[in-house]
Amino acid sequence: RKTIAMTDLRSYVRDIPDYPKPGILFRDITPLLADPQALTAAVDAMAEPFLDSDIDVVAAAEARGFIFGTPLAMRLNAGFVPIRKPGKLPFDLHSFAYQLEYGTDELQIHVDGIKPGQRVLIVDDLLATGGTVEACLRLLEKCEAKIVGCSFLIHLEALGGEARMEPYDVHSVLKYG
Ligand code: PRP
Ligand code: ADE
Repeated sequence: RKTIAMTDLRSYVRDIPDYPKPGILFRDITPLLADPQALTAAVDAMAEPFLDSDIDVVAAAEARGFIFGTPLAMRLNAGFVPIRKPGKLPFDLHSFAYQLEYGTDELQIHVDGIKPGQRVLIVDDLLATGGTVEACLRLLEKCEAKIVGCSFLIHLEALGGEARMEPYDVHSVLKYG
């Protein structure tokens, strides 16, 4: 079977200028998702640094985080715990509200999704300003999780999201300056 080198994986990400608003360069991963070898290469590369990290649970935020979170969990022999927008999870919740460029957003996790001390990997498709992953970190801290690190397919380095994740380790497959 054809395998895809990391340098080639980048060619499956499509740049869309001025989406969803003027000045934003949107990194569209749908061509990568649509290609079986590229999708497998992406999941493999996101999981690789954590194969020997004894991950109990992968946690990811909807919607794009779910796409990579579940296959990574299976690759790491871990469970999967969803982090969702308000009104989606039925049981008792931890919530964290955070600032967006305009207004606020909120993410939630089930209080029993993660047991204290469980080793958790956070997964998302993309790190931009870091607002989403920071909310995930705060929710996992409320669960008293042992946060092992974060794995992203794409890191938009110019937006400074890494600073909001200290002291946690960040892994990304494709870096954009
Ligand atoms: C995107 C992406 C990340 C987040 C990164 O999700 O999937 O979760 O933005 O940006 P940040 O680092 O500035 O928080 P989005 O909120 O567009 O939602 P979606 O996954 O439902 O498409
Ligand atoms: N999420 C936040 N910023 C993004 C970007 N520039 N491209 C794709 N998804 C994003």
